[in-house]
Amino acid sequence: MKSNYIYTGDCIETMNTSINPGSIDLIYADPPYNLSGKPLNLINNTTGGAFYKMNEDWDTWDYDEYINFSELWLTQCFNALKESGSLYISCTYHNVGELAFIGKKLGLSLKNILTWHKSNSMPSITKRVFTHSTEFVCWFTKGKNWTYNYNELKSLNPEKTKDGECKQMRDFINIVETPIVQGKERLKSQNGRASHPTQKPEKLLEIIIKASSNKGELVLDPFFGTGTTGVVAEQLNRRWIGIEVNQEYVHLAKKRIKELSCQKQLQLS
Ligand SMILES: C[S@@+](CC[C@H](N)C(=O)[O-])C[C@H]1O[C@@H](n2cnc3c(N)ncnc32)[C@H](O)[C@@H]1O
Repeated sequence: MKSNYIYTGDCIETMNTSINPGSIDLIYADPPYNLSGKPLNLINNTTGGAFYKMNEDWDTWDYDEYINFSELWLTQCFNALKESGSLYISCTYHNVGELAFIGKKLGLSLKNILTWHKSNSMPSITKRVFTHSTEFVCWFTKGKNWTYNYNELKSLNPEKTKDGECKQMRDFINIVETPIVQGKERLKSQNGRASHPTQKPEKLLEIIIKASSNKGELVLDPFFGTGTTGVVAEQLNRRWIGIEVNQEYVHLAKKRIKELSCQKQLQLS
């Protein structure tokens, strides 16, 4: 099994064939949310076409297929985890119930559901619901000896007590109101558009990796996308493995991580 390496392929197949059972300390999974292929019904739409918030082939399933797919990849994650391992899964209100249920059914213990407040979320286009401005991260553990770096997390919390002491990290991730990735951090193609529709903020990964792994340990991301997990794991001196089915995203992630290594070397020289 390789580390600091991106496997190109389907994560269910790759975890089954290339990841040693019981070898991974921490998994961060940002799976398809199954939000695509669902047109929004806009009142007074004059553009002629349906409006989609997101419309990617890899994110389009019927409900039963989606549940089946989720059970398969979660089972592989369960097998890959060490007895003391943690699994964090990004999700929204659309799929949090299903993923929490499947994780529990596999025998994982749900420790927290973190709420990430997206301070720059899109306004509600239909104006028929509250503005969606949050995503969740379910934190599951396997076995009894999971890692939670309490003091390090406390020191990351900008909130202080009346006496100026650090406060415990809450399950509401609001550190400097972590926005949807923008500015320099957002990978863009030549036409100026985002290279990937769902690149996650490095700050979110920093919190997760610091909370549930230690230096030198192995972090796996089965839905690697632009490689955010690899970038942050490198910065925090963890080993990492990424799996991504789309060649273009693999290329983007490799380039991003290579650039980081070059910057690191420059800083050292
Ligand atoms: C929500 S995105 C992850 C974004 C990533 N967290 C980032 O920061 O860039 C999900 C990714 O999973 C990939 N994917 C979808 N199905 C997959 C599968 N069966 N195996 C591996 N990757 C898959 C998609 O191509 C997409 O890049």
